[in-house]
Amino acid sequence: YCGIVGFTGTNQDSTPILLKGLEKLEYRGYDSAGVFVPNADADADTLVREKGRVADLEALVATKNISGTSGIAHTRWATHGVPAVKNSHPHVSADGRFYLVHNGVIENYLELKQKYLSDVDFQSDTDTEVAVQLIAKFVTNESLSTFDAFKKALTLFGDSAYGFLLMDQAEPDRMYVAKRKSPLLIGVGDNFNVVTSDAVAMLDETHDFIELHDGEVAIVDPNRVQLFAADGRSVTREPFHLDIDAAETDKGIYPYYMLKEVDEQPVVIRRLVARYLTDDGQIKLGQAILDEMEAADHIYIVAAGTSYHAGLVGARMFEQWSNKPTSVYLASEFAYEQSILSQKPFFIFLSQSGETADSREVLQNVNEQGFHSLTLTNVEKSTLWREATYALPLMAGPEIAVASTKAYVAQVTLQAILAYALADANQMTFNLHEQLSEIAVAIQSIVDDKAVFEKVANQMLVPETTHSAFYIGRGADAAVALEAALKLKEISYVQAEGFAAGELKHGTLALIEEGTPVIALITQPKTAGLVRGNLSETTARGARPFTIVTKALAQTGDDYILPDVNPLLTPLVSVVPTQLLAYYTSLGRHLDVDRPRNLAKSVTVQ
Ligand code: F6R
Repeated sequence: YCGIVGFTGTNQDSTPILLKGLEKLEYRGYDSAGVFVPNADADADTLVREKGRVADLEALVATKNISGTSGIAHTRWATHGVPAVKNSHPHVSADGRFYLVHNGVIENYLELKQKYLSDVDFQSDTDTEVAVQLIAKFVTNESLSTFDAFKKALTLFGDSAYGFLLMDQAEPDRMYVAKRKSPLLIGVGDNFNVVTSDAVAMLDETHDFIELHDGEVAIVDPNRVQLFAADGRSVTREPFHLDIDAAETDKGIYPYYMLKEVDEQPVVIRRLVARYLTDDGQIKLGQAILDEMEAADHIYIVAAGTSYHAGLVGARMFEQWSNKPTSVYLASEFAYEQSILSQKPFFIFLSQSGETADSREVLQNVNEQGFHSLTLTNVEKSTLWREATYALPLMAGPEIAVASTKAYVAQVTLQAILAYALADANQMTFNLHEQLSEIAVAIQSIVDDKAVFEKVANQMLVPETTHSAFYIGRGADAAVALEAALKLKEISYVQAEGFAAGELKHGTLALIEEGTPVIALITQPKTAGLVRGNLSETTARGARPFTIVTKALAQTGDDYILPDVNPLLTPLVSVVPTQLLAYYTSLGRHLDVDRPRNLAKSVTVQ
């Protein structure tokens, strides 16, 4: 859940590399940060940790005498222990010899502390410190080598999730690495190697990465990587080349990544079109995927958060275009309460990061039951990518803001492509290539209207008197309403609900007060009149309305008019005003748009 980087080389100063890596990882957690750079000189500072942002750590580092050619660093999203310097990583053993950074949760840490470490004076409230103290204990009391002590400690953590990076002062050029249910990659370079929980953090150093599988451990030196399976066998694995431009991970001229990523959405759609569709609307996809989906009698879409909302939109296309019964499930629920499955199920996992622990839990169950699956993810070689039967890239480019925007649009687009591919061509009355190209143009026109949404946000959502807001719609619009409300909640902290418009009157209407913003999405011809009726029911009780309507359905007095596109594809355009409203509300409330409180980008805890 946190971010990890490590570096070991022969002649470069590691500190700036580690700090730059942390900046790129900060979206993964920003409660505190820390760095350890070994140095034999007794006057050198080696461990620097600070509460708050990476910038705070950098300011502190600037006042210290820290230098070396290796090191490990961490940015934290608190799980055990409040955000504080003492709970920041790297954690250090009582003898001052071992330093450890950790991503994940050691579930049985209290038990281990009691059993093995009752004599140790703990410096923090974290689960991680138990691991580093255990390693030190095994080295001292049992005369184990560092590697054996590390491996022994790992056997005690049961089913816990971890990505570990350990350094031993006695071997300052070496990093010990272990991974289980938490992402970790080894990056290889000339006379140096790196370790990172996300390739994005180290793209300035290398584009060649070795993936680690669950249970594996590694010893990383400047010129050598030794990889071992859980049973101790040596493993040889070639690095893969990651074709991402490091510049893609910079904010450029933008004040926040979120705005940049919203603006990139037309490009993302065009990229997907170019990759998956021919000019005449034919699909360029592996036949095996299509054959399996064709043969399935039911599609199960599994995802979390925004990706789940993208699934709600996609399911409609699979049912209405491809005639495939489709259900959408929240991974965190489905993992522990699996529905009765059809005879020939096929699973689709939607995940920007490809690392979401809840989704992975379901995928592991699906694999155990012998069913086949397809992951649509933005991160190639991620866990969900590797473990599914098939995987297709979302091609959205690195999404760094915590609030997901372009990945949602990519997920909906790619599901549209799949659903179109499965549909009976004779029944399809439109060319998807043309439709998506028009949608890219339509999104461009909406993002060019930023001033409109800034004004509306400032009038309706920014004032402190606004405590709650509603998005309403029916059908695909109800799905977008959920996503719109999530976006507003997570970055502006305005209590927002997305609602199937017809359901309001069954209870929730009681929450409408004088001035409560109710934003209606009206893009579905079949239900437009009904949604207008539902909106009137709220304005009759004092609500402050705002309508987002397609041109064909617009009436005098509507507030924002969207270009007309195929009704099932309207979520691609109607979501964009809601992203901008959330953005400008967060901005107007002087919040950190990219890094909302309590949240992290990639959720690798269950
Ligand atoms: C909200 C958001 C989250 C993610 C969710 C799933 O803006 O980003 O709700 O959508 O945590 O993450 P992925 O798609 O990486 O599986």
